[in-house]
Amino acid sequence: MMRKSILNKGKFITFEGIDGCGKSTQVRMLVDKLQQFDLNVVTVREPGGTRISESIREILLYRDTHELGERTEALLMTASRAQVTKEVIDPALEEGQWVVADRYADSTLAYQGGGRNITIDWLEKLNQFATYETVPDLTFYIDVLPNIGKERQNSRLDRIEQAGLEFQERARNIYLKLAERYSERFIVIDGHKDIESIHHNIWKELEKRLLEK
Ligand code: ADP
Ligand code: TYD
Repeated sequence: MMRKSILNKGKFITFEGIDGCGKSTQVRMLVDKLQQFDLNVVTVREPGGTRISESIREILLYRDTHELGERTEALLMTASRAQVTKEVIDPALEEGQWVVADRYADSTLAYQGGGRNITIDWLEKLNQFATYETVPDLTFYIDVLPNIGKERQNSRLDRIEQAGLEFQERARNIYLKLAERYSERFIVIDGHKDIESIHHNIWKELEKRLLEK
């Protein structure tokens, strides 16, 4: 059972992982569970989550933009993030609401850093700027092998999903490094288990980490 005091304070929880790891499924289940406690929960997905950010998402993922350069990609990902942070995430946290995000700044480190080979230091700076220095309280990183993620994806792949298995492998390697570097907020969840067990593990970790604070 959660203590009353932590229910009164807004928390920022992010979900991360390679494509097809099962994030969106777990976001939905966690949000349902939090709402059972009568919490006000705001959900966002990245890139996206505001009118402007969803337009940027179209350019990044679905339009015929094969010529998009890797730095343009990084700037658009972070531009989308700046908008959703200012318009949705920061105001909600200030009001004491909980925010659950399907991807946030760590995705840029994994995908544009690992995937596209952009220097991590630059991306860290870009993220700092784009997030207004907002940092998640908890990050659930759902770890799966790239071939498992691929099996779980539907057949209509977006531009980044089309980059292939080695790209996902490089992104995964960065996530695993981030989990070590930011161990105070990163929780590695084994994504190979069944959906209910993963949800159970996430809930257990959330209770433990937030109650101990
Ligand atoms: P993501 O948001 O990480 O791309 P989704 O949550 O959309 O992943 O899941 C992709 C697909 O895999 C969906 O069809 C979902 O039902 C399925 N899936 C999610 N988690 C699991 C799991 N633990 N085991 C098997 N299939 C899963
Ligand atoms: P997502 O909406 O999670 O796709 P799906 O639900 O189909 O897994 O993410 C869209 C894609 O954008 C995904 O391939 C990861 C990529 N991405 C980046 O490359 N950098 C970023 O900073 C973010 C937020 C996403």
